[in-house]
Amino acid sequence: MRTAVILAISAMALFAIATPVFAANSTNKTLDNLQSAFNGESNAHARYLAFAQKADQEGYGPVASLFRAAARAEEVHANNHAVVIKKMGGTPTAKIETPVVKTTKENLEAAIKGETYERDVMYPDFLKVARAEKNTDAIETFNYAKMAETEHARLYTEALAKLPTLKGAAITYYVCSVCGYTATKLDFTKCPSCFSHKEKYEKVS
Ligand code: FE2
Ligand code: FE2
Ligand code: FE2
Repeated sequence: MRTAVILAISAMALFAIATPVFAANSTNKTLDNLQSAFNGESNAHARYLAFAQKADQEGYGPVASLFRAAARAEEVHANNHAVVIKKMGGTPTAKIETPVVKTTKENLEAAIKGETYERDVMYPDFLKVARAEKNTDAIETFNYAKMAETEHARLYTEALAKLPTLKGAAITYYVCSVCGYTATKLDFTKCPSCFSHKEKYEKVS
């Protein structure tokens, strides 16, 4: 009987010690995910600017505009992730790789692949962990990015399908400076993703 009581007390003490350690580890997982997303967004920003330059060289003005708009959106995502990283006591760190630039057709294909991965795998996985850890700041910044990447994948897919018709001058896109949502026209009052007023949108061409 006495042994059983001692064992029960020991088990409770062990649980009390183990719980905070588990909580600390689980918080680090979201911090790691934020760092990984910050790195990915920073590289996407650099890559899309290089793709825009190539599209201009090949005479695809409207595609160059789309790459520049998406580049600005990825910059918004990187900045949003950085705010949460700092709030959690971390330092945002990115390793910018030299972008691999091919033809505009191939660059669009590569961009679709990247956006689709972020939309279907990366951000859904990061959101699952952030929800389990009840990290509302991380949930918000991951959700904003996921919504914008979904739109980027759609816009890039559309551009690839009609690429031969996209020669000529630059066109205007609108990018939400709060969440990075990317639109072809401002036919709404509030951002469809973060609900900020449309005055938060920036023109990119
Ligand atoms: Fe992004
Ligand atoms: Fe994107
Ligand atoms: Fe927004």
